[in-house]
Amino acid sequence: MTKAYHQPRLEWVVVTGGSHGIGRALALECVQRDLAVAIVALPNADLRHVEEELAEIPGAVFATLGLNLVEPGAVAKIVTWLETGNIRPKYLINNAGFGRGGLFEHTSWIEYQTMMQLNNQVMVDLTYALLPVLKTTRGGILNMSSVEATLPLHYKSVYTGTKAFVYNYSLALREEFRYYDISVSALCPGPVITNKDGLKRVKAMGTLAKIAVTMPEDLAPEAIDGMLKGKAVIRPGFLVKLMAFLGKLFPRPLKLRILEKMFSKYREEEKPAAKVIH
Ligand SMILES: NC(=O)c1ccc[n+]([C@@H]2O[C@H](COP(=O)([O-])OP(=O)(O)OC[C@H]3O[C@@H](n4cnc5c(N)ncnc54)[C@H](OP(=O)(O)O)[C@@H]3O)[C@@H](O)[C@H]2O)c1
Repeated sequence: MTKAYHQPRLEWVVVTGGSHGIGRALALECVQRDLAVAIVALPNADLRHVEEELAEIPGAVFATLGLNLVEPGAVAKIVTWLETGNIRPKYLINNAGFGRGGLFEHTSWIEYQTMMQLNNQVMVDLTYALLPVLKTTRGGILNMSSVEATLPLHYKSVYTGTKAFVYNYSLALREEFRYYDISVSALCPGPVITNKDGLKRVKAMGTLAKIAVTMPEDLAPEAIDGMLKGKAVIRPGFLVKLMAFLGKLFPRPLKLRILEKMFSKYREEEKPAAKVIH
């Protein structure tokens, strides 16, 4: 059952993947700023945990929907859920996504397919479906890209490809949506420790990553500030800004060669055992 909210002054933010990692931190930061959050994430312990956390915050207004975003009809379910709850979002944070590091052929095809679907297709689909409401509430969209979007990065080629899509798509859409008073921002964090894959990557990068790495809570305030101010590209933290700046100084062939050397530890990796997907 969906509860219906009848407080017209509430400003709602839809956060995909808001039950864990960066999405959770962004959702909590929104609540700190008196925004109401509508979280869509996989129906599991992470979602129950964030529900408990939000319930502990005095005055927090939130709604949650446990849903696999890549299942057929997921976006239509979100729209129905929002309508039933009388939730008219002012902001949309397209955060849900994942990546895999390693040799190109070490990730299964089905995983690549899901990655491209979640990181890109769901984002476009949800934006398309919520645009009529967003045109009336005139807020903003925050799309999750990565500092890796403009590199690109070896041993993470499909992932950085999806993030490059998000980056270019967001900047292009931003100019179109100016006419509707909807800002579109691309969030480009550096390495953030949230899950096993992130940890593996930090280990592969060695000392450099240990310096550059941040926690979700550290980047959330700058990310939400950027969204509310309608910034085009948000690179949270000094080191990420520096990385982006240095990236522009090096000629591309040299930069790509240096990066490949940095991540070449992945070449020593054993091919993981095939996963059975039912
Ligand atoms: N971590 C980094 O270093 C980093 C850097 C730059 C950009 N990013 C991007 O930031 C975003 C969040 O990354 P993260 O590291 O915070 O990831 P995370 O900790 O794994 O959290 C991902 C969130 O998305 C949810 N989710 C995953 N698959 C889903 C699906 N099919 N349907 C619905 N919800 C789903 C997860 O639910 P469960 O918790 O239940 O799995 C979780 O709430 C991603 O787009 C990622 O590419 C991450």
